[in-house]
Amino acid sequence: MPSTIVILGTGGTIAGTASSAQDNVGYTAAQRTVADLLAAVPAWVGGVVEAEQVAQLDSKDMGAAAWQRLVQRVAHHQARPEVTGVVITHGTDTLEETAWLLQRLLAPAKPVVLVAAMRPATALAADGPQNLLDALAVARTAGARGVLAVLAGQVHLASEVRKVHPYRPDAFDSGDGGPLGVVEEGVLRRFRNWPDPADGAGAGDAPALAAAVLTTAAESWPWVEIITSHAAARGDGVQALVAAGVQGLVVAATGNGTVHQALKPALEAAVAAGVPVWRCSRCAQGVLVGPDAGPAAAMSPWQARLELQLRLLAPARSATAADAG
Ligand code: SIN
Repeated sequence: MPSTIVILGTGGTIAGTASSAQDNVGYTAAQRTVADLLAAVPAWVGGVVEAEQVAQLDSKDMGAAAWQRLVQRVAHHQARPEVTGVVITHGTDTLEETAWLLQRLLAPAKPVVLVAAMRPATALAADGPQNLLDALAVARTAGARGVLAVLAGQVHLASEVRKVHPYRPDAFDSGDGGPLGVVEEGVLRRFRNWPDPADGAGAGDAPALAAAVLTTAAESWPWVEIITSHAAARGDGVQALVAAGVQGLVVAATGNGTVHQALKPALEAAVAAGVPVWRCSRCAQGVLVGPDAGPAAAMSPWQARLELQLRLLAPARSATAADAG
């Protein structure tokens, strides 16, 4: 049986077009099909590549409905014995959230490689074709597993990858641990172990999370918001969210998880009203350190928001106010 790689298209700048080849910012994302993107890379030798369009959007607009479809299609292709890996073309803006979702729901034993670009497909020096070629190389690497992200020659783990720059082609970073490896002339040079199936938060609950995500209508996913603790913070925003029915809150807290004194009473009232409140750091790198770090200690605010949403969705591990950090 020939080994098959499936490429799922979701849009993004990698599929974007501008009216001028010199324009790297004034483009429209999600214009080219994934089949077009595949045609722009050299013929792939050594296996079959199938392309399927799952969505066509600017990833700033990513949401539950597109995620449900993507999870379904990735799970479907992963279950095919001839498929050795799945590549997903995606926008850079919410790539890390989709990566987290797929890792948490599927904990895949075969590689799921997210790939994106910072320049549109029409750019003079477009980065998409090389990134796609690198992603294909990673997806075909023996022993590859888990959800990964490939950009600018670097391979990142889903649990660690962050977009850290709004313009540079090497806009992604893995923080303290560094990238999993680099792709050089189509060969992965690996610095770290492949991700554990339980990479990310919580082990063993992937099937329950996936079932909950796929069976809950997109418009019924729990409402979880991020608020930030900052100089001159006020509690009014939290009070308004609770009054409006928010079901979970993530505080992007200062430094090692501290919260402005003006915000604290509103957060305590939210917890008392049954709204789980998680804390993580608004710092770009590192984790909350100490005994009270809480369940989101190692997560970015947007990972934590999604994780709390998942836990509110999944019956087995519902988040309660007791989780409040
Ligand atoms: C997007 O996230 O879809 C647009 C921005 C990008 O891909 O760089």
